[in-house]
Amino acid sequence: MPIPGLERRRPLLLAPMEEITDQTFRRLARRFGADLVFTEFVSSEGVVHDAPKSLAKFALAPDEHPVGIQIFGARIAAVVASARRAAEAGADLIDLNAGCPVRKVAGKGGGAGLLRTPQLLEEMAQALVDAVALPVTVKIRLGWDERSINVVEIATRLERAGAAAVTVHARTRSQRFRPPADWSWIGRVKQAVSIPVIGNGDVWEPADAARLFDETACDAVMIGRAAMGNPWIFSRTRHYLDTGTLPPPPSTAERFGVLLEHLREAVAEKGERRGVIEMRKLYRGYLRGLPGAARLRAALMEPLTLTGVQRCLADYGRAQEIDLHGSASGPPARAGGSEGTGRTMEEPATDPRFEAHLAAARAAARRAWAPPRERCGAVAISRAGERFCGATMQLAAPSGLSVCAEQVALCAARAAGAGEIACVCLWIGPAAGDHPCGTCRQIWLELAPRARWLLQRGDQPPQWLSLDRLLPDPFRDFSPER
Ligand SMILES: Cc1cc2nc3c(=O)[nH]c(=O)nc-3n(C[C@H](O)[C@H](O)[C@H](O)COP(=O)(O)O)c2cc1C
Repeated sequence: MPIPGLERRRPLLLAPMEEITDQTFRRLARRFGADLVFTEFVSSEGVVHDAPKSLAKFALAPDEHPVGIQIFGARIAAVVASARRAAEAGADLIDLNAGCPVRKVAGKGGGAGLLRTPQLLEEMAQALVDAVALPVTVKIRLGWDERSINVVEIATRLERAGAAAVTVHARTRSQRFRPPADWSWIGRVKQAVSIPVIGNGDVWEPADAARLFDETACDAVMIGRAAMGNPWIFSRTRHYLDTGTLPPPPSTAERFGVLLEHLREAVAEKGERRGVIEMRKLYRGYLRGLPGAARLRAALMEPLTLTGVQRCLADYGRAQEIDLHGSASGPPARAGGSEGTGRTMEEPATDPRFEAHLAAARAAARRAWAPPRERCGAVAISRAGERFCGATMQLAAPSGLSVCAEQVALCAARAAGAGEIACVCLWIGPAAGDHPCGTCRQIWLELAPRARWLLQRGDQPPQWLSLDRLLPDPFRDFSPER
């Protein structure tokens, strides 16, 4: 069955992203040239139990089609029932999620859990194809882990079940977002099946999309994180694919114009407070490469109203002497630059009292952070007017248990009391090192408005990292769990 949006040459698709690809985001992506967009994933169990949060995700706008509604679940009956309701809601296609690695989904047999039960996945896809008169696509990863890569077998089964296309996010479930996507598997799947193959993973720039098409012969490219706060990724990539030349990046005035339009629509969709807070995840993309972007992002973490955000942007425009009303005015954004890495080192303003306080707090934390080192600790120092207040937290983990250092940092920050958090320091034991999860993302978001500096991760020499630089890109550095 043909898939709407895939009829054009080298189509570009917006990836489904939970808490990101809401209606406003999808409409914007379509306007900037995405050929097909996807909703956030919707829980089939939520739908069959009439959970308002799940049903709300079925709301589609007239100007976002073609749009696929993505569903996840482990029970065929629930998945089929929700697909029927998604079809009634006006979806142009149904996408089955067989890639989500989050424990509460994959651990219950849904999402990437389905990669461990190929027979069930095939039967589920078949049942969906039989139940709805729409194309059914399936989004998969390479396999459960590196020892059990079965993406070619899975794709072959899905083709047999009648799936209209398969999207391959070129990582295993256990890799989450960490190693670079291995596109060679997309090419192998393409050779094994005759249904369209959609390539996904690590397309950050227009040239990446061109390479993914060229290296794998895939039928479409799906873009996720690079589209966050950057709808121009679609228009610029389309231009690059069609002409071989790269258009200039948008001016500051254009960025602010689209940012505010995005925010206004989000506020209309969700209400002012929620719309403004949820927009914070996207500022990094909108401001990437602008002079003073880190400070502006920090300022944008404060307001809870649309007017407050507008005021921050206007202040920035005045300070940079940019005419924000002229569409092509203002200095062009620097392409790339140190901002892009999110890893620029800086020193906070020196203040002897702060330094003394920090040194004492760190010494205390270090003393407590003793072998077996399967521990993490955090120090937070807050400043209210002239007063500094420090708090240290330690967490020892029984062997084998992973410890959430971010959680400890949050506890320390809370214990440090009211006021601006001047810094948060982390010491992370080896066993506590790397456990990316969505909870951490939330924690960083909570810390963001109050904390300015993060000092040191792990056992490395001290480094000052601007927290707000790390924060708006938690999806790269602290890896969400999907
Ligand atoms: C915040 C976030 C939420 C995501 N939510 C979903 C989801 O609901 N369903 C899904 O299939 N994939 C989800 N993903 C994975 C993306 O669709 C995509 O496969 C992944 O980000 C790799 O593509 P990229 O490198 O272009 O970002 C999510 C990714 C992110 C960063």
